[in-house]
Amino acid sequence: MKHVVANLKMQLVLKEDCDRYLSEFKRVWKGGKPKGATVTVCPSSLFLERFSKALPKGVFLGAQDLFFETKGSFTGEISPLSLRDIGVTRVIIGHSERRQYAMETDETVGKKVLRALESNLQPLVCVGETREERDSGQILQVIRRQVEHALEHVSSDKVESIMLAYEPRWAIGSDRTPSSHEIMEMRVLLKKILTEKYGEKKAEEVALLYGGSVRADLIRSVCIDPGMDGVLVGRESLIAEELMHMVSALDAVS
Ligand code: PGA
Repeated sequence: MKHVVANLKMQLVLKEDCDRYLSEFKRVWKGGKPKGATVTVCPSSLFLERFSKALPKGVFLGAQDLFFETKGSFTGEISPLSLRDIGVTRVIIGHSERRQYAMETDETVGKKVLRALESNLQPLVCVGETREERDSGQILQVIRRQVEHALEHVSSDKVESIMLAYEPRWAIGSDRTPSSHEIMEMRVLLKKILTEKYGEKKAEEVALLYGGSVRADLIRSVCIDPGMDGVLVGRESLIAEELMHMVSALDAVS
């Protein structure tokens, strides 16, 4: 099974933006659920309920973040239980923009992953290096550190519900993507880290996605050729038709 995840970030800011997007989405969804691919749409938290009511059946509703506690004195935070309650089933955790602007640390990511699993939400954990980290040869250590922290509290009976997205920070929002070979090297590294911790069989079950300047015409080089299980899409996911092209391309090869 392949996966296409649309990260709408903070791009649809008014109710009417959301409604326009949703009606376009429904128009291009046409025949309904693809057999070989799942589609997840992650709007900003304030509009999750609106999307929950309007998204076609078969589309997963995802959140862009959650808090690592379920209830209490945590001003401004969003409980995993509230997300579940309005129909969210997947959640992005540790996106580089959260790490950069909300000062999210590897430890926080680990706590959020644990709480998501306990709350029956499927985590999509993002990891990725900066340009400087890549150029100075630290990429392996950086990715290993991020993955190990993210999975610190994840037991082997839960690991198969994790999705991991390799998103190099320098590729996000930049129109630059790594080569197929570079993405494949990251896939091998992620599998290796997972195998060391959970064994080969479990490692095989974890879906590995690529994210960062994904476009429909790049699906082969960033996902199919390097053997990834799907894509996490930012800007291009705002064009529902482009998103659907990606879904069809992956559906066709799965
Ligand atoms: P982009 O964003 O596709 O606009 O590069 C990807 C992401 O941040 O998940």
